[in-house]
Amino acid sequence: MSGKVDRELRARASRVIPGGMYGHQSVGLLPPHAPQFFERAEGAYLWDVDGNRYIDFMCGYGPNLFGYCNEQVDAAYRKQMSQIDVATGPTPRMVELAEAFVAMVTHADWAMFCKNGTDASSMALLTARAYRGRKKVLMASGAYHGAAPWCTPIPAGTVEDDRAHFIYYQYNDVKSLEDAVAQAGDDLAAIFASPFKHDVFVDQELPDAAYARRARELCDEKDALLIVDDIRAGFRIERNCSWNHLGVQPDLSTWGKAIANGHPISALLGNERAKEAASHIYVTGSFWFAGAAMAASLETLRLIRETDYLERTIALGDRLRAGLASIANTCDLDLSQTGPSQMPLVMITNEEGNCDFDRSTAFVDGMLAGGVYFHPFHNMFVGAAMTEADIDRTLEVAETVMKKLPDPVAA
Ligand SMILES: Cc1ncc(COP(=O)(O)O)c(C=O)c1O
Repeated sequence: MSGKVDRELRARASRVIPGGMYGHQSVGLLPPHAPQFFERAEGAYLWDVDGNRYIDFMCGYGPNLFGYCNEQVDAAYRKQMSQIDVATGPTPRMVELAEAFVAMVTHADWAMFCKNGTDASSMALLTARAYRGRKKVLMASGAYHGAAPWCTPIPAGTVEDDRAHFIYYQYNDVKSLEDAVAQAGDDLAAIFASPFKHDVFVDQELPDAAYARRARELCDEKDALLIVDDIRAGFRIERNCSWNHLGVQPDLSTWGKAIANGHPISALLGNERAKEAASHIYVTGSFWFAGAAMAASLETLRLIRETDYLERTIALGDRLRAGLASIANTCDLDLSQTGPSQMPLVMITNEEGNCDFDRSTAFVDGMLAGGVYFHPFHNMFVGAAMTEADIDRTLEVAETVMKKLPDPVAA
């Protein structure tokens, strides 16, 4: 629950920040009664400005993979900071980081670095269109690829022309993908795909191998580029691009969030086929070549290669999922838990199987009051700094809250 200091900050923010807050931090997109402002974060925990501690299942919406203030990553960051960060040119870390990504990600022969996920997806778009000089781009309807005019989910300030050449298909639906490709005709530049369906408000879906393979084939047939948007899921599914286990390699993949454990850097990775086109697009930013985030990313990649973080987050996610299912069962509650267990979407559902927004919100209110930061309609993240004790505490709180949940409102 939002406390006194948080409420005061919100009031001040509403005077000097449009809307009081914006983007995914705006009031309508947060868990409705969650605090907005935080003072401290360490390991798996977050403290709000009123001093309340939470086990944080949002992990900063993804960047926290190895725990907030991870000693090794932050030491690499500080060391680089003390020598050179933003300067008139990049540091050797840039080449080392590109080499590290190329060595780890099967489809990648090169890397370019930027700051936010939206930078990377916009660069992917430019590269794909520059590749054969074509316009049409396919995206799954409801998928999030960032907040630029071509992809923002909220159209205010955009014009229809921003989306004039986008065609939408249904995730995991081969027929709708084929129809969209047919509609693009000879002008198909790219197919964007999320590694799995992780849209808000609806159940998550793992990718069908047949859909992923067909996307690859169609791009090959049409000489278009396949783009996997791994910004949210990258390195949380595998130590490689998230479609690697399906045997499908994209031409381009986009990365951000966890790749430097919270330090600001994102990346576009590509194969030989896309390299020439990528070398012609003009993309840049004052902070894109900064060395310290690159040093942090190098250390994060080392931890990804050398620790069992992935197996642990999956095991913790499984423990959480099994525990929640059992409590919901005892409480006779319809709970949908979808997606990979380490990136769970947990919603209380109604008779039709859709999100019961009021009860999901009431559930999350209770979790927040019990010191667990859950989200009622966005996927969450299990972090490698969490322990079994954190999961067990979370389940204890969940049990107390589920037992007291109000009955569904009659339709
Ligand atoms: C799948 C996906 N793509 C792109 C983005 C945009 O990344 P950023 O918010 O860093 O611009 C996000 C952010 O949540 C995302 O989840």
